[in-house]
Amino acid sequence: MARGTEQYSCQNCGSSYRKWQGKCDECGDWNSLIEDTVQDAVPKGLTTGKGRNIVFTSLDTQSPDYTRHLCGLDELDRVLGGGFVPGSSILIGGDPGIGKSTILLQAVGMMAKRGHRCTYISGEEATRQISMRAHRLGLADSPVQLASANSVRDIITSIEKSAQAPELLIIDSIQTMYADNINSAPGSVSQVRACAQELIRLAKKVQCALMLVGHVTKDGQIAGPRVLEHMVDTVLYFEGDRGHQFRILRAVKNRFGATDEIGVFEMTDKGLCEVANPSSLFLSNQDKEINGASVFAGMEGTRPLLVEIQGLVAQSQQATPRRAVVGWDSSRLAMILAVLDARCGLSLAGNEVYLNVAGGLRVQEPAADLAVAAALVSSISDIPVPENSIIFGEIGLSGEIRAVGQTDARLKEAAKLGFTTAIIPRGSKVKEASLKIIEVEHLAEIVRLFTGTKSEKKRQES
Ligand code: TYD
Ligand code: MG
Repeated sequence: MARGTEQYSCQNCGSSYRKWQGKCDECGDWNSLIEDTVQDAVPKGLTTGKGRNIVFTSLDTQSPDYTRHLCGLDELDRVLGGGFVPGSSILIGGDPGIGKSTILLQAVGMMAKRGHRCTYISGEEATRQISMRAHRLGLADSPVQLASANSVRDIITSIEKSAQAPELLIIDSIQTMYADNINSAPGSVSQVRACAQELIRLAKKVQCALMLVGHVTKDGQIAGPRVLEHMVDTVLYFEGDRGHQFRILRAVKNRFGATDEIGVFEMTDKGLCEVANPSSLFLSNQDKEINGASVFAGMEGTRPLLVEIQGLVAQSQQATPRRAVVGWDSSRLAMILAVLDARCGLSLAGNEVYLNVAGGLRVQEPAADLAVAAALVSSISDIPVPENSIIFGEIGLSGEIRAVGQTDARLKEAAKLGFTTAIIPRGSKVKEASLKIIEVEHLAEIVRLFTGTKSEKKRQES
């Protein structure tokens, strides 16, 4: 075994130090340095011209045709961009217990049933535990090759020596694997990096799709060096709220397909079930008009998704009123409150503001601005958002409403789900004709929409 030098590596960002210290200077994380060993990485004389010549080709060189393998879990296949590409590597991260092992077991189980060779190697669970789970998922009769192993050398040897290499190889998880030529504990930065490198090389060599499970740190990043995300072709995050049974699979990097694509699953006692119509899932009771709730017509990748946004504005007794956001960006909320104050004369400085995206979804589009503003203004004015309406649009700092993309896809989805009115930015290109369209140009019009009806209602009452 090569002798290495002792050093300390940050488990969060991968930067290394000669001495131990409590805080990483690079990423600011506390207690993240652990002892690590580096091999003398760069051999001497690398520049002396002993290498082989590389053959250069042009861009239009025909690549060998590859056929993607579908696993049969449609949502997973779609997020991957249409199935597994042979020789590619995929990293899937997510909180503990969110269902990573379950979804992968279902994927290999279904794929093996379709006649593909699939191997599932777990470094965390014994084979008995996995087969017990497979029984529960109704996949026990699937011809998956199952093993419990931790040594990357053993894994590579067994796969290279096997008569036929698998078409899909699952490693659950990369943090439990170790390469015996590296002198540090499994899960450390250098181990994770080395194991991933070896496994990716193996996948390219035998042309199998490789799927690695990655643990996440407390702030939701995949543990280990960031370089892991650079090494693989695709990075997926499996996320969801513990309190909800919905799970969302999101592609954040994909060399073989679009990112921002999501797959929606529901965790049941029979494993993860695909949700074909996610919009209906994220909408609560549509029939009742509720103050402080609006329906946002969003896009997740290529797919429209309607979600309910709930706002609550309450009196505060505190000097600094609370602002709490679930499922949306809190700095974006601060911006909308500032625009409401400065451009529409609606100050919420003395109020507590709560915002919640129903169903445990995380909305990232700026197009949700208008729906958020509508929910908040509706909550203050005690007037519900117009019945059966959806809303979207980006708010600029001067209060202007800016048009967003894919208007028609959003409107079509809304029409499909029985909505009748759409409040959208002026100047949007609308082809869908089945909805009543209300165009708005400035945030003040939204405020007027509510306060206007209120004064009218009051007049009628008196
Ligand atoms: P698991 O796949 O082990 O999570 P991870 O690998 O991401 O850590 O998921 C375990 C959770 O899923 C556990 O809390 C129980 C739940 N679960 C079900 O609700 N139904 C099922 O059929 C299965 C297999 C798991
Ligand atoms: Mg697991």
